[in-house]
Amino acid sequence: MNESQAQKFDVLIVGAGAAGLMCAIEAGKHGCRVALLDHAERPGKKILISGGGRCNFTNRHTRPENFLSANPHFAKSALARYTPSDFLALVERHGIAWHEKHLGQLFCDRSASDVVQMLLRECAEAGVRIFCSTEIETVSRDDAFHLRTSRGEFHAPALVIATGGLSIPKMGATGFGYEVARQFGLKIVEPRPALVPLVFSSADQARWCDLAGVSTEVVAAIGRQRFTEKMLVTHRGLSGPAVLQISSYWREGEAIEFDLAPKMDATAELRAPQARRESAALRTSLRTILPHRLADRWMEVYSPSGWSTAALAEWEKRLHRWNVVPETTEGYAKAEVTAGGVDTGELSAKTMESRVPGLFFIGEVVDVTGHLGGFNFQWAWASGAAAGRSI
Ligand code: FDA
Repeated sequence: MNESQAQKFDVLIVGAGAAGLMCAIEAGKHGCRVALLDHAERPGKKILISGGGRCNFTNRHTRPENFLSANPHFAKSALARYTPSDFLALVERHGIAWHEKHLGQLFCDRSASDVVQMLLRECAEAGVRIFCSTEIETVSRDDAFHLRTSRGEFHAPALVIATGGLSIPKMGATGFGYEVARQFGLKIVEPRPALVPLVFSSADQARWCDLAGVSTEVVAAIGRQRFTEKMLVTHRGLSGPAVLQISSYWREGEAIEFDLAPKMDATAELRAPQARRESAALRTSLRTILPHRLADRWMEVYSPSGWSTAALAEWEKRLHRWNVVPETTEGYAKAEVTAGGVDTGELSAKTMESRVPGLFFIGEVVDVTGHLGGFNFQWAWASGAAAGRSI
């Protein structure tokens, strides 16, 4: 395609996921000519599979503390200017039925496709042009940005990168955003899988993994970061909300501490003056706290060293401070998100523009990662809106 056939816009957005769609809507609403490009055959594929097909589209209790980043202050500005209530107002304006699950998590009643349809209607109203099945071959810049693609050339003075992280490569995730950042000399915080199941060492797999499917409420902690939710034993290690949450903070070689009996005292009855101090009594007590199979296995693996009060206290302590050093994680194939990404030191917290004028990064490609529970979409909406309004 020669220069005369090249398509000129005010802004090119690469990645028609949550962040890219929101950015396109906001930029289009104030009159920008917007091209939204994606290599996938349709927009919003991750939204469609999110929240078990119902899309946990935001969280009412969104606070900066719900996000990890090398700079914990970076997300504050965008989150304050596009809030969960703003997104909820949009959802309600489109007549989408929703409900609140526990901990402020908001889901569609019907299907995640309601959210995608809503965003596409908003894009159409804002005059956004969407180009799917479009491979980006090269990115260059002189007085404007130029994309050479499988659908010809696109030019614009502003380029927004919204290509997400590396999670779920089979759905089309790529490192494109990081490559563009590097091309323009911007720093990257090393990406790593987050909200991801953990893999036990082989010794722990032999001890626990035949219990796959058993789950129990725990506190999972690394340092001062603590999550009280369910833990699930899997065929290779641990998962469940508590484990996914703490996985975002975990680094190889580190221990995770689990309290398997939060706020409970398994040995209280045995410590009473007339109590029978023996395995059967302890097992019976533990079975009131843990699922039976897990209680029985715990007794096999960690029987008390004796029946003195000190020995019982030692045994009780392990139940509340079980240290696990995972071997690794299940990797990007199973990770819900990617932590790390474009260094926030390179970006304006207000507009998401990088120190390369006209080049923006939004959504998961940025080094801002939410906890489980609708926070990652809220970051996508908020950072997308911040960029879209400023272009
Ligand atoms: P996103 O990944 O959504 O979009 C990136 C887009 O860029 C894609 O359309 C992709 O095709 C495109 N792209 C990538 N490389 C490209 C290239 N080289 N050329 C052109 N296009 C390219 N979060 C939450 O808050 N609530 C939830 O319920 C869930 N549930 C959930 C379930 C599962 C299974 C996963 C994997 C993830 C979630 N998440 C979630 C996380 C959430 O989906 C995620 O954080 C956001 O989708 C990130 O939005 P982005 O727009 O940044 O990236």
